[in-house]
Amino acid sequence: MSRQRKSGSLNPGEKPWGGRFQERTHRLVETFMSSLPVDRRLYKYDILGSIAHCKGLERADVLTRREATAIIRGLEGIRTEIDDERFPFASEDEDIHMAIERRLTTMIGPVGGKLHTGRSRNDQVALDLRLFLRDALGTLLEGARRFQQALLGQARRHLDVVMPGYTHLQRAQPVLFAHHLLAYAEMIGRDKGRLRDTLSRLDELPLGAGALAGTNYPIDRTYVAKLLGFSRVTANSLDTVSDRDFVIETLSALSILMMHFSRLSEELVLWSSQEFQFVTLPDAFCTGSSMMPQKKNPDVPELIRGKTGRVYGHLFALLTTLKGLPLSYNRDLQEDKEALFDALDTVTAALQVLTELIKGLTVHRAALARAAGSGYLLATELADYLVAKGVPFREAHHTTGRLVRACLESKRGLHDLTLTDLRMFSEHFEKDALDVLTVEGAIERKGQVGGTARKQVEARLKALEKALT
Ligand code: ARG
Repeated sequence: MSRQRKSGSLNPGEKPWGGRFQERTHRLVETFMSSLPVDRRLYKYDILGSIAHCKGLERADVLTRREATAIIRGLEGIRTEIDDERFPFASEDEDIHMAIERRLTTMIGPVGGKLHTGRSRNDQVALDLRLFLRDALGTLLEGARRFQQALLGQARRHLDVVMPGYTHLQRAQPVLFAHHLLAYAEMIGRDKGRLRDTLSRLDELPLGAGALAGTNYPIDRTYVAKLLGFSRVTANSLDTVSDRDFVIETLSALSILMMHFSRLSEELVLWSSQEFQFVTLPDAFCTGSSMMPQKKNPDVPELIRGKTGRVYGHLFALLTTLKGLPLSYNRDLQEDKEALFDALDTVTAALQVLTELIKGLTVHRAALARAAGSGYLLATELADYLVAKGVPFREAHHTTGRLVRACLESKRGLHDLTLTDLRMFSEHFEKDALDVLTVEGAIERKGQVGGTARKQVEARLKALEKALT
């Protein structure tokens, strides 16, 4: 039941919007609707935004200097209370915005009720999320940079290590192990680009959009934007309170990043298996079996691979939430935060643990070299040799294919062949044909930009190292 208010402050259980209501909110509804357990994480940004809004109101002569000062002091006091975990949250607080406003009025009296002039929670929450993401994406970019550095460190330490490159998970052509690692550094570089794009698009002040139509007060939006470090103000109030593109973009960029992590994880699982034995994962990043004493399991990369599904899930949940929503604000939008926060937490944790795991990787160069030296990975080199002697590539490919089949039948490798053997397949083979049959030579011949030749890999490594410091 809506009761008469004592000046400014709320009776227990009363809502700030309770004026037109005759019944108290049902306790089930209160629990169902509350976003406080999730969005209390935004408190610092909420207070930062409120302080800037308050200064905007003062400059527009909506608040006096005294009023603005009292409100700002109150807000700073609340920030300290929440920092110190002394803030008295109440069950009727719908969200962090209401909790802070209620507390403000209790602390400084009716003047606290002036803060929300010319503002709605709709533009307020849009602001809080942007402020939060600006920090969170900054932290994530730094984590991604450290991860790239871990990859570069391993690449630098193993510049002379060769390995089989695969397609279809079949041995294809030899490559440098460093080339393989740098492939992941490139992927993470693009991930960082996507996060930076998101940052540049969310760099707009939503305050001033009000609930949906704009504000009646002559607040200088550009001034408030400058206070909060935004480059621009949003251009359409309806769009401003409806828009969650920047959250979806973040989830999309995080999903792609996790997809890259998942692929690397899969390779780590394969490479550390007894079937491959290319690498050993650090003991500290593996777990044992409760039954089989000999087991050392690659649970960390497995779980990263597993958590990728969870991040995709958040992306699809929010896309689905937004689909079919009419303009402008609808309460459905409250679902954005849980998805966003969990995706960010998941990716942050994965970044940290995978960075350390990569740093601690032991690389078995002999096993990698053995694998690169068998399995006919040099067949393409022989075909290209024939091309150099004027044989059309298709014919050279066919001839070399027959040669490989003959080797398979006689259980020989290409390096077991003599010149006489080769000449039984083509008279174009001469003495120098045997020279192309080395792993190192095959790698060195991939000398174009982007190829696996040592000088190209080293140049790219150097460029990335420079870009990351
Ligand atoms: N807690 C809401 C959210 O996170 C913000 C409040 C807007 N609520 C409203 N009824 N207009 O989206």
